[in-house]
Amino acid sequence: MSPSAVPLPYRLDVHPGIASGDDLAHDAWAGLTGPFKDLPPKHFYDERGSDLFLRITELPEYYQSRKEMQILRALAEPLVARHEPVELVELGSGASRKAEPLLAAMTARHGGVRYAPFDVCPEVLLASAGRLATAFTGLRVHAVAGDFGMHLGGLPEASPEGVRLVAFLGGTIGNLLPSERTPFLRSVCQLMRPRDLLMVGTDLAGDPDRIRSAYDDSAGVTAEFNLNLLRVLNRELGADFDLDSFEHVALYDPVPPWVEMRLRSARAQVVSIERLGMEVCFDAGEEMRTEVSCKFTRESVAAMYADAGLRLVEWHTDRDGWFGVSLAGFAPG
Ligand code: SAH
Ligand code: TRP
Repeated sequence: MSPSAVPLPYRLDVHPGIASGDDLAHDAWAGLTGPFKDLPPKHFYDERGSDLFLRITELPEYYQSRKEMQILRALAEPLVARHEPVELVELGSGASRKAEPLLAAMTARHGGVRYAPFDVCPEVLLASAGRLATAFTGLRVHAVAGDFGMHLGGLPEASPEGVRLVAFLGGTIGNLLPSERTPFLRSVCQLMRPRDLLMVGTDLAGDPDRIRSAYDDSAGVTAEFNLNLLRVLNRELGADFDLDSFEHVALYDPVPPWVEMRLRSARAQVVSIERLGMEVCFDAGEEMRTEVSCKFTRESVAAMYADAGLRLVEWHTDRDGWFGVSLAGFAPG
């Protein structure tokens, strides 16, 4: 962090592992050299990607954010009264909009509340940490920029007293591959002491048309977001992807169930990635997977927790049952 004359109302640590672009280089190499092309979704989120995602959350088709906000607004006060959390750690916090009802309820009840937003995008943290530190008097904000798959150790120690609530919202858990979930949740458990709680937002299985449309909006914002990955590759790795020759694809697959986001090459082409000294061939119509977004049920959420040694403690949905917010703790004994 650079020293500044005026003390900031928050602290932001940037994990050294995210600044170099080595991770993107590694993922591009691993994901683009085999017969099945795919890239992990964390690389969507440069500053522009984070802005586009915020626009996605406001689209009519993207019901998930509105539903989750409704649940959180209704849940925040009773949850804080029941469990008395004094610290909120939020993984993949983005613009931190969903932390607001929780922090409002927490700061209304206790002094000395702490908020630790954690995100791979330092720019989004800068904007949200400053906003929240001024919006809630007495709130201490310690933001960490890092990859939640690797750098959770960069988060501050839990305060010795009181309950820590770890939140993972936005259905982002569904963007992990099923095989990545248990190891991820076990690493999240390292942030928690026996009395602490985990809160996870999950999009729920349901009408395929409604769900698919949430990833293929009529204004084309999701397509822009998906294509942003190619801009990131061009800028960071000196690649020469022609954005006009790739198309956004969103498919609903009832088994697992999930939505797959892909980019389809409109023509046969060769893309050069200078920093990797590599050329990648695409057939006409060939697709590269850029994200999965798994859909859950109460049962699959409970099973996911059990696999990680956690227990489902509370389950909340919106009135239509489209989105779920669950709380988990350590299984007794
Ligand atoms: N929680 C917000 C944002 C969800 S979008 C909401 O519900 O609206 C997913 C967020 O997770 C983005 O802000 C993105 O930058 C972050 N993210 C994605 N992969 C990540 C990773 N591997 N490590 C840390 N943050 C990540
Ligand atoms: N966590 C969000 C989700 O799965 C991420 C997301 C929403 C997303 N729309 C997207 C990712 C479009 C890629 C493309 O719902």
